[in-house]
Amino acid sequence: MKKGLFSKTIATFTAIITVSFVITAAVLSYWFEGYYFDQRKEQLLNESEFIRAAAVKYLDGDISNERVAEILSGIGNYLSTNIWIADKYGIVYAVSNNKYKDLIGKQVLTDDLEELRKGKDIEKRGVYGDIFTAPVHTFVVPIFSNDMFKGAIIMHTSLDEIREPLKKVYDIIWISAALAIISSFFVVYYFSQKIMIKPLGKINCVADKISKGEVDKRVYIQSNDEIGELAKSFNLMAESLEKIEENRRQFISNVSHEIRSPLTSIKGFISGILDGVIPKEKEQYYLSLAYDETQRLTRLVNDLLDLSAIEAGQLKLRIEEVNINEIIRLTVIKFEQKIKEKKLKADVCLQDDDLYVVGDKDRLIQVVTNLIDNAIKYSDEGENIEVKTKVKGSKVYVSVYNSGANISEEDMKHIWSRFYKADKARSSKVSTGLGLSIVRSILTQLGEDIWVENKQQGVMFTFTLKKI
Ligand SMILES: Nc1ncnc2c1ncn2[C@@H]1O[C@H](COP(=O)(O)OP(=O)(O)O)[C@@H](O)[C@H]1O
Ligand SMILES: [Mg+2]
Repeated sequence: MKKGLFSKTIATFTAIITVSFVITAAVLSYWFEGYYFDQRKEQLLNESEFIRAAAVKYLDGDISNERVAEILSGIGNYLSTNIWIADKYGIVYAVSNNKYKDLIGKQVLTDDLEELRKGKDIEKRGVYGDIFTAPVHTFVVPIFSNDMFKGAIIMHTSLDEIREPLKKVYDIIWISAALAIISSFFVVYYFSQKIMIKPLGKINCVADKISKGEVDKRVYIQSNDEIGELAKSFNLMAESLEKIEENRRQFISNVSHEIRSPLTSIKGFISGILDGVIPKEKEQYYLSLAYDETQRLTRLVNDLLDLSAIEAGQLKLRIEEVNINEIIRLTVIKFEQKIKEKKLKADVCLQDDDLYVVGDKDRLIQVVTNLIDNAIKYSDEGENIEVKTKVKGSKVYVSVYNSGANISEEDMKHIWSRFYKADKARSSKVSTGLGLSIVRSILTQLGEDIWVENKQQGVMFTFTLKKI
């Protein structure tokens, strides 16, 4: 992934930069060539003034042919140009370079004469008859004296020669374009490494470690862009993973602990009986203790199965009309024996005879059973228990109260967690610490609420149900 993204970025940027610089360089070269040729033409026009003056003087007989040739050769050398002068019939009578003196007396202008007579300049590029085989720039200016057409000045400059200084400019343009492309390549390389590739690499590396179980690893990227955001979300994800992992460990250690203690007791009782350490007459007693422990184990395993089913969302609630008052009455009767044993005073205060709510009958029995079981378990002998139902609007409030010690602030936060047992001494034998988490999971699945309040003297658990 790393290499792919990197080379794609570099390729894209380099392509963009190359295209833009090449276009710029081409436009610049084209413009410069035009500008240079314009400059050149201007120069030729300026110089042609002197030649025109000399030609007129010659035609008037004021100076000799040699003098004209001298002036031509001077200017021709200065401009690196071949200059000829032709008369009004297009016949050459003076040349700047002796090489072409054979042309004297020959007609070189024919078709163009018409234009020249009208006072127009003529400019051409390319080979010129069979005289210049290499491409030349030809510039022809007419000569007028007293408004009379007297002939023309013909100037040939080798294009190669004109382009010679241009070549240097082109070189400069293209070399700077190449330098710009290369340096921007490095800039893009550096920044894409710094901004994207390295941070992504870091995240990738940490993700790899987390996937191998090092859930405490985090990425440290300080930037305000999307990559920074990604790093933040990534760390949040890692945190929740770590929490889940921690919960899982905690859960396993709790379960193992809960299973180990009854197993140890059972093993102790049975081995005591087997090797005769426990006397015959006490065997019955110890066997009943072992039986209690197996019951505790069964309860624990059932609770665990319930809890995991509820939490995995596999537990499908059978939603139906349920008479909550009926459930409460039956549950209290179920606990009658225990209530009597503890000499508790149980009050059942129900609104109406029948109170129908939306729910799953078996699960609601489980909820009420757990709460009443707790109320009995956590109250001392001779105290009160009160179960109430009350209708408020579309809701039914069910509360289970027992007089007794309040739950401390600290415990309040944890009683809903799995395996949490506040009063360890009292509850160790009979409790799993799973009751309230099951109660809450069931009610949450029903879309209902449950909370606990410390009363002046005692504890009250209240949950809501939807009235029909
Ligand atoms: N009625 C109550 N009065 C005082 N404490 C309670 C009451 N009900 C629950 N608790 C506290 O909440 C803890 C969790 O309850 P629960 O999940 O039902 O587990 P268990 O009943 O197995 O101990 C209990 O250990 C106890 O400390
Ligand atoms: Mg309980």
